[in-house]
Amino acid sequence: MQPGRTTLSKFLIQQLSDAQDQGRLAALLVDVAAAVKAISAMTAKGALGGFLGALEQTNVQGEQQKKLDVLAHEALIHACDWGGLVAGMASEELAAPYGIPEGYDRGPYLLVFDPLDGSSNTDVNVSVGTIFSVLRHDAAQAPQTADYLQPGTRQVAAGYAIYGPATMLVLTVGKGTHGFTLDREIGNFILTHPDLRIPEQTSEFAINTSNTRFWEPPVHRYVTECQAGKAGVRGRDFNMRWIASMVAEVHRILMRGGVFMYPRDSKDATRPGRLRLMYEANPIGWLVEQAGGLASTGRQRLLAVGPEDLHQRVPVILGSREEVERIERYHREHDAGADRPFYSPLFNERSLFRAQAA
Ligand code: F6P
Ligand code: MN
Repeated sequence: MQPGRTTLSKFLIQQLSDAQDQGRLAALLVDVAAAVKAISAMTAKGALGGFLGALEQTNVQGEQQKKLDVLAHEALIHACDWGGLVAGMASEELAAPYGIPEGYDRGPYLLVFDPLDGSSNTDVNVSVGTIFSVLRHDAAQAPQTADYLQPGTRQVAAGYAIYGPATMLVLTVGKGTHGFTLDREIGNFILTHPDLRIPEQTSEFAINTSNTRFWEPPVHRYVTECQAGKAGVRGRDFNMRWIASMVAEVHRILMRGGVFMYPRDSKDATRPGRLRLMYEANPIGWLVEQAGGLASTGRQRLLAVGPEDLHQRVPVILGSREEVERIERYHREHDAGADRPFYSPLFNERSLFRAQAA
């Protein structure tokens, strides 16, 4: 190792030095990093690896699985099921949690993950990622699904990997959010972005505007005001981005600020949002909070949501503190009926919002 460079394992030993189980949590995160390196190698091969394209099957969410979704899922399972560190794992790609096979020891953690976030982007060579969350499971018995349903406030570690031009691992164990870059020649993650801080102010927002007609009024109000730019109430121009990989949007926000929204909408009445609480919203929400940002449903702190289902969906609004506070305020004003003046031109017979705001 070059002098002065901090590897992931050195960093974890230092950060977790006062935790009772520092060794085991560090070892688990190093196992996760091993899977991330394998997924990075697969995604980087592109068409040459033979991994692109979709499979015939769909996952528990009804989404068509990509070959890389399944390969990334297997890489994580097999990197972490044998070491005696986890009591079980849950994945976006599995309906029920994965039990540790006979013959392997169970450990004190539950690992929950989205193996390949944004996987619609694999075939078009745009950044994708892996998101993971570590929860505690101290009981001697094998965990049941209910044992996984812990709020985000109970996470002991969380992170994501981004497979972009460079592969990076960004993680928190509750002492800030830190970024590591994969040095491919030596196969190590090196600390390159210690103590990331999200600027409190921003003029950049990310939302899928093709869903505009399904949004709630507070989200519509916020986006409309951003779009009005200098001439509107915000008095400045805003920029918009949409990559369709949550990890990539969040990475940009950690690097230079911004706000990301996949809010509650009326597109599908059975779904209160698009993103999954346990393995997308919670780990990302904690990383954002640890970097000084906010993560909300619009009406509640994301990490305080009590999970009822492993694959439950939740509205997500996160990023630069001042913007998230503003969007939360717009939700409060709407719920109190205090935002009508902002919609007066829209409150006519044919209004989209009439029914929802009534
Ligand atoms: O995992 C869900 C996800 O792929 C996110 O990574 C991304 O932000 C979002 O869905 C993209 O949604 P849409 O297809 O509406 O652009
Ligand atoms: Mn995802």
